[in-house]
Parts: sequence; C-alpha cells; structure tokens
Amino acid sequence: MNSTLLRGRTLSFVRWPQTLEDHSAWRYEEDGGLLIRDGRIVAAGTYADVEKQADETVKRIDHRPHLLLPGFIDAHAHFPQMQIIASYGAELLDWLNTYTFPEETKFANAQHGRRIARLFLDEMVRHGTTTVAAYCSVHKASAEAFFAESHDRNMLNIAGKVMMDRNAPDGVLDTPQSGYDDTKALIKEWHGKGRQHYAITPRFAITSSPEQMEMAGVLCREHPGLHMQTHLSENHAEIAFTQELYPWARDYTDVYEHYGLLGKKSLFGHCIHLSEREADALSDSGSVAVFCPTSNLFLGSGLFDYQRFRRRDKPIRIAAATDVGGGTNYSMLRTMDEGYKVIALNGEKLNPFQSFWQTTRGNAEALSVVEKIGTLDAGTDADIVVLDARATPGMRLRMETVETLAQELFLLQTLGDDRSVREVYVAGRPAKADMSAG
Ligand code: GUN
Ligand code: ZN
Repeated sequence: MNSTLLRGRTLSFVRWPQTLEDHSAWRYEEDGGLLIRDGRIVAAGTYADVEKQADETVKRIDHRPHLLLPGFIDAHAHFPQMQIIASYGAELLDWLNTYTFPEETKFANAQHGRRIARLFLDEMVRHGTTTVAAYCSVHKASAEAFFAESHDRNMLNIAGKVMMDRNAPDGVLDTPQSGYDDTKALIKEWHGKGRQHYAITPRFAITSSPEQMEMAGVLCREHPGLHMQTHLSENHAEIAFTQELYPWARDYTDVYEHYGLLGKKSLFGHCIHLSEREADALSDSGSVAVFCPTSNLFLGSGLFDYQRFRRRDKPIRIAAATDVGGGTNYSMLRTMDEGYKVIALNGEKLNPFQSFWQTTRGNAEALSVVEKIGTLDAGTDADIVVLDARATPGMRLRMETVETLAQELFLLQTLGDDRSVREVYVAGRPAKADMSAG
C-alpha cells in the first residue's frame, strides 16, 4: 500500500466565506494531518486524530509551519501561448493577429506541441496549480500532446483543441467538418482516460463560421457531460465585429445561446461588457463566467464586475483564471492579487478567505469537479499545495507583524508567487521534484 501522512497547517473550504469572521465556511487545523493512500486523501483532521490511522509503513512528511491547501485550479489558459506571453502594445484583436495566431501555427508540429505541453504543465505545477482548463491550438496534435503529458503526470486537467475556421491565417484554420471529426476522435481517445476531461472548444464567435458554431452545438448535444469553453465579451472591438458577423443576434451571448452552447458545464472567458440580458442568460443556464484579471488589465480589456455578478438577483457562477498568454503570470496568487485590484477599482473588496475559496473550492465547483478536487476532504484526490508565507526577506519581515490567518493569506496573495510554493502533490505524489528542463 502506497501511503503518506502529511503534517502541517491545513486549510480547506466548506462554502463561500461571507466575511472574515465566517469561521464555519472553512476548516483550519493549526496542527493538521492528511493521510494519503493510492492518490486519494483517506483521512483529514487534526494530526493527532489522523496519525492514529497510520501504521508504521506510512511515509511521514512534516511541512510545519507551512500551510497545506487544495492545489490551485486555473479555469482558463492557453498552453500554446507560452512564447508570446509578455508581447507589447496591443489590444485583443491586434494581439491575436500580430502575436497569437502566428505563434499557434507552430503547433502543427507535434514535437513542438509536446515540448511546450511539458513545459506548460511544469510551470503550472511550479506555481501550485494542479488543474487547468486549457485551450490547445487548432491542431489535433496539440491536444494529443497536452493530454499525453497530462496523463503521464496523472493530473486532472480539462482541455480541447480550438475549433476555428475563419478570420485567422490558414495555418490555424480547420473546417466545420474537420473540426468536428478531430474533436470526436480526441473525445474518444482522451475523455475519461485516467483523470483527463475533454472540453469542446470553439475559440470564439469571430473565428467560427455559423456552420462551425452549428457543429459545436451538435458536439455538445452528442456529448452532454462534456465541458464547453469559449470567449465572450472581452473587448469592445471584438463585440462590434461579432455583431457584424452575426447581425441577427440580440447581443454577443445570443450567438452562443442560439447554437445551444450555454449550460452548467459551459465556461465563458472574460464576460466583461455584459448587458443585464446577457447576465440573466448566463445565470438562467447555469453557465460560468471566467474572471481573468491579469489578462484583462494587460490587454486593456476592462474590469470584470465580480461582486455585482455574485450579488445580482440572478447570480452568475464565477471561476478565476490566468488566461496565459494574454494573462501575465502563471501564478494563481498573482492572479488573485490583480483580481483584488480589479474588484477594488469597481469600489468593492474580495476578502482573503473568499480569494482562496475561489482558487480552490470555488473553481472546482465552477468546473463541476468538486467531488474530486478543490478541498482536502477524505475521499477526494490528493492534489495539494504547500505554501510558505515567509518565502522572501520582505515576506518574512512582514510576517513579523501578522497576527491572523486572514492576514497571512492576504500577504501570500499580495506578495507571494512561485517562491511561496514549497511542494505540490499531484494525486498524492510530490510533483515539484519531477521538473524537467529545456
Ligand atoms: N479571444 C479569442 N482567442 C483568445 C485568446 O487566445 N486570448 C484571449 N485573451 N482572448 C481570446
Ligand atoms: Zn483566453
């Protein structure tokens, strides 16, 4: 039996924390224990209690004084964009045409795809992220590369090849039929293999013809349990162009609605400039709006209205994400730091418990995988991040004045990055040590 007993300060969420005093929303053990067997957490609680269930063959790892949390979840990122992250000077459509589409043509080469998939998942894990909802390029081989790499590491990831058949260079175009056929083949090969999940991925309304949108809807109806991911209402020029391409649509959301793409497993990146009607449509269908703060700031797209979406009469389910390479950092800590500032610009605050809820349990709920990941509950997969709030001299000094868990979490979010990630467990296996180079 392959068993490990972790010791440290464990923190996991039960539900959305309303306030900093809403203690029953989380479980925190100052001296906590997690017993892991065959990739799953089999017992969680105080170390004294959990230790009683461990025999002498169990490997013991003491992470005190660090925090043990569920591994971070990134609800939207583009793995083929690693070599155009940090590209200067453009808003969305120019950025796509100038940097992104040309870069993604390289993924016709399967070897290139495999190398970048490997380095992408290395980078995710190095930053404490154990699950990502990833966009691959249009090429079937890029999705094969991603899933092969993810499966080898036994990570729970969600991914799909983008479907795109117009308004981009030939090297990144499919056709309605080939997009459908490749997606079908990838679902058959990868969905449900180990921990892999396939997401039907029409890139966005601008790069899909009505025929392709139709095919995406057919795929969703043929595979009702699958995720669907796309982009929605990120940028004013994008919205205007979409309206030109789909003149009959009431608004941008209506395009996706028309083709049957809204639903509980539908993930819409950005959702910045939504009308009340569009917000109602997302809410009514149980669709998820994905908040990508570093990207929205970097591309000058706008401010996601997190608190309004949560509080409206018809609330919208929300996930948070890096959106690498429009986003500027692989870290969910950096992401929530920028998220805090975006929300502050809207005159609101997101408290640190809410923030860490969002990147763990909140994202797991939004991605409909909370039965498996996003908490430290017994019976779930052992995807865990170990966080050190004293990782740099500046953090160490600031920690001298920290008195509460809330303050420590806020420090981690505001000053932390990959240096704060001491270890990461993927399905119970220490994963930081495995990193490859080059
Ligand atoms: N809209 C369509 N494609 C993309 C992309 O790759 N990144 C971002 N940020 N928005 C998009
Ligand atoms: Zn994106």
